[in-house]
Amino acid sequence: MPATDPRSPTPGATRPLVSLQDIHLSFGTTEVLHGISLDVQPGQVLSIIGPSGSGKSSLLRCITGLLRPQQGRISVGATRVDLLRHEAEFIALRRRVGFVFQQFNLFPHLSVLDNLVLAPVRVNGRTRAEAQDQAHALLQRVGLGHKARAYPGELSGGQQQRVAIARALAMQPELILFDEVTSALDPETVGEVLNVIRELADDGMTCVLVTHEMRFAAEVSHELVFTEAGRIVEQGPPARLFGNPTQERTRRFLRRALGSHPLSQAEISESKLVALPIDRFRFAI
Ligand SMILES: Nc1ncnc2c1ncn2[C@@H]1O[C@H](COP(=O)(O)OP(=O)(O)OP(=O)(O)O)[C@@H](O)[C@H]1O
Ligand SMILES: [Mg+2]
Repeated sequence: MPATDPRSPTPGATRPLVSLQDIHLSFGTTEVLHGISLDVQPGQVLSIIGPSGSGKSSLLRCITGLLRPQQGRISVGATRVDLLRHEAEFIALRRRVGFVFQQFNLFPHLSVLDNLVLAPVRVNGRTRAEAQDQAHALLQRVGLGHKARAYPGELSGGQQQRVAIARALAMQPELILFDEVTSALDPETVGEVLNVIRELADDGMTCVLVTHEMRFAAEVSHELVFTEAGRIVEQGPPARLFGNPTQERTRRFLRRALGSHPLSQAEISESKLVALPIDRFRFAI
């Protein structure tokens, strides 16, 4: 996305790629998601923001079938995730939905290249040669072409996270979920990971981000969702949510999140955010 071209509303799409309807999720007797409904359109970048414990990670886990809600419907394309029963069905779903975590979860005993080759060969039935060619291309894409032979322990956190993103891409997913992928990184390496996500978004990859990087979320997202205590408090395009939140709770959260550097409507609509050093604005709730 060029710096002068703020994200327009979601690219014209008719049928959501992900659809959640009235999701209720409990752990034991504690309900942590209280009726969440949400659509993600193909090519859309949707960011979920909200305080710790509000259910953001649980929501992502429901989309991949890692958690099963007690009530509600979840669709990814034509697949009703809430109705899946067999392991083979979940494996098929996870081939289509990439998931990148805060802790990179790379295989420490495998080289960077083999981290990217393993699943395409074992799960997707690609030949090793094909998978290696693709892995080299993906490593180039995330700026790590020279690290193919390295082991994860020899890389910085930011480099490991970029490998984790390349590994998710190696499965050629229909969408990628990112759960606070910069939270464990040094401030200097946050930007390099955000750049990779920004490029994916610009290439039209459907992305759902859980993030505390408010300025990045404002810049890269078509749609922002603010959650608290298992409910969606407010949702809308970043310009509206940051510029003119309707809920007092959203205003309070954003005030705290942005500290003494509030986003102005003009800032958002002119996309000046691109020029800001994002890592200066990291914060923890
Ligand atoms: N496996 C679990 N068993 C019991 N309770 C859980 C489990 N996983 C999450 N919870 C609870 O569910 C609620 C939502 O947790 P979740 O991890 O989804 O929040 P979050 O918004 O991702 O928080 P954070 O920003 O800290 O990552 C929390 O109260 C948490 O303690
Ligand atoms: Mg979380």
